[in-house]
Amino acid sequence: MTPEHASELNARVCALAPVIPVLVIDDAALAADLARALVAGGLPALEVTLRTPAALEAIREMSQVEGGVVGAGTLLTDKDVEAAKEAGATFGVSPGATRRLLDACEANDLPLLPGAATPSEAMYLLERGYSVQKFFPAESNGGVPTLKAWGAPIPQVRFCPTGGVSLQNAATYLALPNVLCVGGSWVAPAAMVRAGDWAGITRLAAEAAALPR
Ligand code: 3PG
Repeated sequence: MTPEHASELNARVCALAPVIPVLVIDDAALAADLARALVAGGLPALEVTLRTPAALEAIREMSQVEGGVVGAGTLLTDKDVEAAKEAGATFGVSPGATRRLLDACEANDLPLLPGAATPSEAMYLLERGYSVQKFFPAESNGGVPTLKAWGAPIPQVRFCPTGGVSLQNAATYLALPNVLCVGGSWVAPAAMVRAGDWAGITRLAAEAAALPR
């Protein structure tokens, strides 16, 4: 898959809702219910981070949930890419980008939303063909003013800011012309997942889905 095609596909993923939930899943047995709760609230695109032993099984479970579009986050290596693809992930997200990781995603037909934290990184990715990128870590990297400033010289790159984004600040990101959607973990707090509070998570998702953009 070319980087251009990957960007096109990820622009569509980002268009599904204002927020992509970033999920750290400890128990794959809860994954399908969690996905159903988020989809019911209006958040179909889901990023499962490959940070727990349960992550790949969770992707498998969530991929069966109707209406869900499940991606794998925290892709660091080519092995991660192969495992994510095999588990059924339909998109990938990485905190940064290495040539090897980009090669692996392109070779495995996994559309990657690659992370950038500086203009040079955004330019490197754009040069390669990635016009849709993740801005990470958004808040500690200067947040809205930084991304707004990047929009002047490189308006052709559009972002999904992630890291420190919350219900309180999401709307200010979404108002920027170079922001397609935001990513955040606040819609699926670990305690609510552990407690199986699916109605509560659907409420958080609905609140996020209603954010203007
Ligand atoms: C992450 O990689 O954990 C994401 O950036 C989520 O960050 P958040 O927990 O601040 O939403």
